[in-house]
Amino acid sequence: MPRVTYRQPDGSEATCEVAVGHSVMDGALDNGVPGIVAQCGGACNCATCHCYVDPPWIARLPPPGYDEAELLGFVWQPRAESRLACQIRISDELDGLVVEVPERQI
Ligand code: FES
Repeated sequence: MPRVTYRQPDGSEATCEVAVGHSVMDGALDNGVPGIVAQCGGACNCATCHCYVDPPWIARLPPPGYDEAELLGFVWQPRAESRLACQIRISDELDGLVVEVPERQI
């Protein structure tokens, strides 16, 4: 099963197995990773699953869709590597993905 590493603002990390087809948000919630709130449950309408994708992985992800791109305009301290965790679907090609959880959501 692909593994995703979630890095916290203090530098601590948790590496979790996330099933293919599940989202980075699902992996966080299923494994009790703090900081991914996901108020809308993955419906792409709350922006409380904001994360920073480790830069080497950015080019390996499909670009954000319209709704995700719009919501990313409202997240706390957006960066070029900001994404919504609910919109990143895990595949075998994303085994080893690293994301950083922001200090806070919204
Ligand atoms: S969980 Fe609400 S936008 Fe991702």
